[in-house]
Parts: sequence; C-alpha cells; structure tokens
Amino acid sequence: MRSTTFVAILAAFSSAAIAAKDSRTFAVNHFYGTPSPLTMGRMDPIVSPGTAAQHVHAVHGGSNFGLSMDNEILMDSNCTTSRIQKDNSNYWTPALFFQADNGSFISVDFYYMNVYYFFEPTDDEIKAFPVGLRMLSGDNFARTPPKNGGGLNIEPAAGDIQPVQWTCPRTSYDPPSYPADSDGLNGVGIGDPNNKGSGAGFPDQNCDGFASPLRADIHFPSCYNPKAGLRDYKSNTAFPSSKGTTGGKANCPEGWIHLPHIFYEVYWNTPAFKDEWTPGQGKQPFILANGDRTGYSLHGDFIAGWDTDTLQNIIDNCNGGDAGMESCSTDITGPQNDPATAQSCNVPNLVPEKISGVLDRLPGNNPPTGWGVNVDLSPSGVSLTLGGSGDSATETAAANLKQDSTPTAAASSPTSEPEPVEVIVTVTEFVARGEPTRFSNSTPSWTTRVAGAATTLGPY
Ligand SMILES: *[C@@H]1O[C@H](CO)[C@@H](O)[C@H](O)[C@H]1NC(C)=O
Ligand SMILES: *[C@@H]1O[C@H](CO)[C@@H](O)[C@H](O)[C@H]1NC(C)=O
Repeated sequence: MRSTTFVAILAAFSSAAIAAKDSRTFAVNHFYGTPSPLTMGRMDPIVSPGTAAQHVHAVHGGSNFGLSMDNEILMDSNCTTSRIQKDNSNYWTPALFFQADNGSFISVDFYYMNVYYFFEPTDDEIKAFPVGLRMLSGDNFARTPPKNGGGLNIEPAAGDIQPVQWTCPRTSYDPPSYPADSDGLNGVGIGDPNNKGSGAGFPDQNCDGFASPLRADIHFPSCYNPKAGLRDYKSNTAFPSSKGTTGGKANCPEGWIHLPHIFYEVYWNTPAFKDEWTPGQGKQPFILANGDRTGYSLHGDFIAGWDTDTLQNIIDNCNGGDAGMESCSTDITGPQNDPATAQSCNVPNLVPEKISGVLDRLPGNNPPTGWGVNVDLSPSGVSLTLGGSGDSATETAAANLKQDSTPTAAASSPTSEPEPVEVIVTVTEFVARGEPTRFSNSTPSWTTRVAGAATTLGPY
C-alpha cells in the first residue's frame, strides 16, 4: 500500500513539473509566398462576417476560410498553406500598397510569413488553442503613434500594450530607419529605442536586408477567458503578466487558459519599388489596404483550426526554433506538407473586384488617411460597394491626396469623385461565375516588376 501512495504522490509532482515551464521553447510555423497566400480579398469572417470587409487582407492557412465561418468548419479543410497538415487555422493581416506620385495605388506582393509559436516561462500549463477561437490584435483605427513611442510592450505590468511594429531589415542602419527627432505625426513613424531595425509606423528607408524586405510584426495575447467565449474577439483574450511571479515567468488570470504566444512576421516585397521613391525624406510611399499611410493601424486576425492533440504535442515536445515545426519528428507534428504542396493550396477571392496591379483607388474605396488624426471608418454594411468606372484616375487620386491633407480626411468624400455603383453579389453567384482571382488578373508590368525583385532577393 505504501508504495502505491508513493507512486501517486510522485505522479502528482511530475504532472505539476510538466505544467510549469522554466525556460522558453519555440517553433516557427512557416508560410511561403510564392506563388501566393491561401487567398487575398476584402474578406474578414471575424470583423465583417457574411459581407465584404472594409479592406483587403492576405490570408493563410486552412482552405475552409470563408466570409462566415462556424467554429468547427476549418477542421474539414482540404488543404492548408502551413507546413503542418494538422494546422488548418487562418491567419490574416491587411495587404500593402505603394502609392505612386501620380496618385495610383500599386499592390505590393506578399513575400512570406513566419508565425512564431512561443512557449514561454509560466507557472500555468500551456494548452492548445480551442478549435474556433477568434483573436484580433492591433487597432485598425489608429493613425497616431503609440503613447509610449516606437517600442514594443506586451507586459501589462509595464504600461499600455503595444503589440505591433514594423521591422525594416537593412544592410546598414546609417542613416537610421526613422529620423531621430521624429514625433511620429509628420510623414514617418518613430524608431524603437531598443532596436534600430524596428519602430512604430512606417520607416522612410528602403528595407534591403537579404530576403528580408519590410516586415509587419504582430504579437497576439496568450491568455483566453473561457467565460467570454470563442467568438468574443474584443474581450476574450489578454496578455499574461509577470506581476507577482519569479524567474521571468508570466501567468494568466485565475480561471483563464494559457495558450501559445503567437507572433506573425509578414514580409512584403517592398524592394520591388526601390527605384520609384527617394528614401530619407521624412515620408514614404507605402499605404495599408485600409487607407492608413502611417502604419500605426497594423493588425492581425486569427481563427484556430488546429487538431488540438497535435498542437499540444508540439507545445510539449517540439522546440524546433527558427528551423521550424517541420524540423520536429512527424511523431510529434503529424504529417507535414512539403513547401510546394503548401503553396498550391489556394481558394478564390469571394469579393469580386480587382485588387492587384495598378488601381485608381484602394479596394473598398478607402481614402488615404494619416499622420495625426485617428479615423472612424464605418463598416461597409450588407452590400458590396464597387467603385464607378471613373473618367479620370489622376483627378480621383489628386482628390484623395488633397483630402488626406485636411484633418477631417476620413469623414467626407471628395466632391470630384464619381458616384460609387452599388453591386450586391452573393458568394455563390461569384463562385458560379468563376471570376478571376487575384493571381490570374495581374498586369504584365506587375509580373515584370515581381520577377525583377525575385532575382535581386533570391528565394527564401
Ligand atoms: C474539399 O472537401 C470537401 C469536403 O470537406 C469536398 O466536398 C470537396 O469536393 C473538396 N474540394 C476539393 C477541391 O478537393
Ligand atoms: C501612375 O504611375 C504608375 C507608376 O509609375 C503607373 O504604373 C500608372 O499607370 C500611373 N497611373 C496613371 C493614371 O497614369
């Protein structure tokens, strides 16, 4: 009897030892950029379910992504753009555009994405994402710099959370990526005092790091409140806190579930435009799909579609680091996709409109906004608004630029703009019509541009 009791006590101790974590392990989930993400378009089943979203996103992961999604639907995906077949989660961020001097918008190609899965020191047990969990990190409406400047902060005890940054890998940081005296209100963001590669808002230098162009960085909270529920993305998660802990640990509130800390690195092929603007002038030409010229409104979305046993096995046993989850044994990760298979998983853009190449306006007709004024963009509603044919692209672009220079930019429409044409298209109609997707309507000049950049940068 005595030995049974001893074994029971030992078991209790060892499970406590497994639950707490003393040092960080991590594994990158790799998503490749050539030829494309899973899909791109004005789709956002979290913020705008069932309708066209305000702006274009680049979406990765499981093929059952759609305009509206029930909690389990991703589990039946036919394919995923992740190297790990049992990860059918969706990951998305706003797309990036370049605004030419004449006002035209030119889509910037997605390059590749790394999603870091950090398993960090904690007294909690780190658990797999529950299927269907929705998260959003970052603020779509921000056009002013974070209160604490260019640095990152994901520790609640240290002040306001600042979960997003831009990173501009360069061969030299002289001159700096952000002017040292930038206040973040006049055409360029603010550098991170602790990391010369990064900052809040867009830098005004060309990012020429090897295979590392301009990068969007987004940290997600890793504490989930089951009382709030899977779908309440506005309040169901929080960042863990190190308050009251020792040994660099961070814990979740009582009754919450401690999840992996995910961190998106999304690379855009900005060097393709390096000859089309002059760096170091205190301004820069890139603009997010939501019309934000500052970069402060960077944000990311996530819906969990992991096989939970597989993710739990990765959390507990895969410390693949930068070599990625695919460097761990398939006994741990389950079946793996080779890069070509992951890249061949694509689904159509469910909102039929041109979103790539040279455009008169941003898809969704989002006016350029930014530098010093936050915006209140109303959601696009139940119908899909497509721009009118427009008789003069230059006139429209000029109107948009002029509009951007006034403080009330986002609120009013330029008078010279043609009336938008209201078109209501259901998803089924669109799919039945077999509309071209983003990747079949590229203009020849765009293809040339991308091919040129690929030679310069080499494959990832
Ligand atoms: C995808 O899977 C569904 C079932 O989930 C099936 O009905 C459909 O035919 C599959 N599509 C492709 C393209 O394989
Ligand atoms: C504006 O400039 C871009 C880049 O040089 C070009 O591709 C586009 O055709 C121009 N737009 C108009 C309306 O002339």
